[in-house]
Amino acid sequence: MDVHLSIHGRQGLAGQLYRQLRAGIVDGRLAPGERLPSTRDLAAQLGVSRKTTLDVFERLIAEGYLRSRAGDGTFVAHALTHLAPRPLTISPSPGSGSIWEDLPDALPRTAPGAEPAFDFVGGITDKTLFPFDKWRSCIGHALRVQARGRGEYRNPSGEQELRLAISRYLAFSRAVVSNWQDVIVTQGAQQAIDVVARVVIRPSDVVAVEDPGYPPARIAFSALGARIAYVPVDAEGLVVDALPDNARIVYVTPSHQFPLGMAMSLERRVALLEWAQRRGALVVEDDYDGEFRFTGRPMESLKSLDSTGVVAYVGTFSKTIFPELRIGYVIPPAPLGTAMRRAKQVGDWHSCTMTQTALAKFMLDGYFAKHLRRMHKEYAARRAVLLQHLDGPLAPWFAPNAPAAGIHLVARLKAERDERELIARAAAASIGLYGIAGMYGGQQPVPGILFGYGGIGVADIHAGMEKLAGVMAASRL
Ligand SMILES: Cc1ncc(COP(=O)(O)O)c(C=O)c1O
Repeated sequence: MDVHLSIHGRQGLAGQLYRQLRAGIVDGRLAPGERLPSTRDLAAQLGVSRKTTLDVFERLIAEGYLRSRAGDGTFVAHALTHLAPRPLTISPSPGSGSIWEDLPDALPRTAPGAEPAFDFVGGITDKTLFPFDKWRSCIGHALRVQARGRGEYRNPSGEQELRLAISRYLAFSRAVVSNWQDVIVTQGAQQAIDVVARVVIRPSDVVAVEDPGYPPARIAFSALGARIAYVPVDAEGLVVDALPDNARIVYVTPSHQFPLGMAMSLERRVALLEWAQRRGALVVEDDYDGEFRFTGRPMESLKSLDSTGVVAYVGTFSKTIFPELRIGYVIPPAPLGTAMRRAKQVGDWHSCTMTQTALAKFMLDGYFAKHLRRMHKEYAARRAVLLQHLDGPLAPWFAPNAPAAGIHLVARLKAERDERELIARAAAASIGLYGIAGMYGGQQPVPGILFGYGGIGVADIHAGMEKLAGVMAASRL
């Protein structure tokens, strides 16, 4: 027998012996067909009682690892031959692992544990201002609801109260008219985009994305075998005239172009809808942070202009509450609704019922609207301070685009410098800056910095920007 057995102490002897023998069988050190010592010899060798070895053998026989032949002894079962170690020959479909890119690598982020003192990372929200006391009471309510029912699988599209709350909220805040039955609750916008892509894309289909754009959406499309067409954006948003004729999906962020921040003009919106109707293409509208609008009249969603049903409308609570919640939604055009509900079900059956019930209560009791009003005021103040610095002491180096909405803004570097050098110098002064070069796909990146203000307060923006001015002046960048 090629397995070294050892017993430690006098506790759990049978368990120790069982685990060692089982491990030896599973990893192949005890080969199929190999004879084991008798229970009597093994007991003597290990200094345990015969009853211990007998019990362990009986258990391994009952589980199928060992077989006993009367009068002949106990042997390792042949059924385990296939468990012998062999190198894995399966590779990620379709042949190359490269399509599965890491989402975090595609977004600017801070290394865990190495957060700078002044961090302008994008895509995060300020949890210190979230009404956790109210949320706790909503979770308490959800727990009570949960405790009442049977343990069961629920509707893949989501809980009725939440779908109702989302539908009402969208009607009044984004002019998106929907029946609550149209809403499919997802794990964030990311799953909404994935579900749309799964239902619509066939391998080699062309998906048009904005350039620069939101890498996680592009990755979701290309992971399903789509060919990506990068379409430029200008001050009016996506350049509709540059769309390839054969695009099956056009993914856009019309309220607040990601990352550059402009809103798509009405003319372009109409042109895009007409184009999609003519070509039989689907438009995916990602309305990820349109609720925070600071100047001008609120621009209604693209979906609100969509009379013929070519828009799949995607939204999320990642910016209005926080990303860990993982709740988003999609309102698909009617003919795609059933397929998308099924795609959601195949992926994960449905989103967590407790979070959904809590969020529905949070919205229906008015806490969400109150939180939005508070955050709107807060983000407006942060944006103003940021712009005051970028347009003031930092103006020799930065040209901010001052978007009307959102919780980040992009400032281009005035001289065509490599953004990496600036980021490294800022990091040395404990200022976290993040570039936009990685968000370009088809064209030469224009150097720029994405200043997120979701996770940094007014005082720190002030201090961080003053420090940045010092870094810029000292390094003569
Ligand atoms: C363009 C865009 N869409 C969607 C999201 C949010 O995605 P999720 O709801 O999956 O957190 C973000 C967050 O940064 C974003 O920038």
